[in-house]
Amino acid sequence: MTDQYAVIGNPIEHSKSPQIHAAFAAQTGQALAYGRILGTPGAFDQDVKRFLEQGGKGLNVTVPFKEDAFRRADELSERARTAQAVNTLIRLQDDRLRGDNTDGIGLVRDLTANHGVELKGRRILLLGAGGASRGVVRPLLEAGPKRLVIANRTAAKAAQLAAETAAIGPVTGCGLDAIHAERFDLIINGTAAGLDGQIPALPADALEPGGATYDMMYADAPTAFVRWGQERGASLALDGLGMLVEQAAESFFLWRGVRPDTAPVIRRLSAQGVAVL
Ligand code: ATR
Repeated sequence: MTDQYAVIGNPIEHSKSPQIHAAFAAQTGQALAYGRILGTPGAFDQDVKRFLEQGGKGLNVTVPFKEDAFRRADELSERARTAQAVNTLIRLQDDRLRGDNTDGIGLVRDLTANHGVELKGRRILLLGAGGASRGVVRPLLEAGPKRLVIANRTAAKAAQLAAETAAIGPVTGCGLDAIHAERFDLIINGTAAGLDGQIPALPADALEPGGATYDMMYADAPTAFVRWGQERGASLALDGLGMLVEQAAESFFLWRGVRPDTAPVIRRLSAQGVAVL
């Protein structure tokens, strides 16, 4: 039987993952099937069990099940442990499930490999301290920035996340209102503010001239945070489409041991225009 993979989430109908993984499989000559599962809140383990009984080899996990997947995994990668969330489940030889998180490496690859943004030695501001931000702190710190500031509307959550990750690299946490008189080479939005078309309250001069902005969300029209970057003269004002494809590529690699070429897939999705998830 063809190896079975799927993405599980709720809602799930707009997920681009099946299209992305089908493109990777075609490109690399890997024989696999990749479907969508509408997960049942409160019944994640049962949904996973059913998938495994049907011969499933691996799952991508999206909102709102990443914490359920973290709890369900029989073993965890370091980056999943830091994220306290799992977006990739891998069925091991002995049928146990390994949980990993490829979101952060997806962000770092999109910035560095796809857009040539240097992270080493740079001052980075990460907005938000929820699941999206938590997922990317370890890979960002491992890229060697001069300083990573996590700023959140609720300051205590940023301080907590910084305290948990301080052993990895130079990170501090604070409230959004504590950002003043400091400029950053890169500002990354990991808040949910954009869902309402808002942006986190930031001083207009927080971005170093020539600096870049990155919104982990994406939409077929520029997001509010992409527009914020453009209006402040960012050298690059990126959205999260590249991150979406790169995190998928890393999952594909974990499952199949083959690294797909992401560029044609990003190009095709950009040309199509993708809806906000
Ligand atoms: P997710 O798991 O998707 O990141 P979350 O855990 O609810 O979702 O976190 C959402 C993040 O967006 C939080 O950092 C939240 O700030 P608080 O911790 O203060 O709630 C942030 N956020 C949501 N709406 C915001 C807004 N209008 N302005 C600034 N930050 C906002």
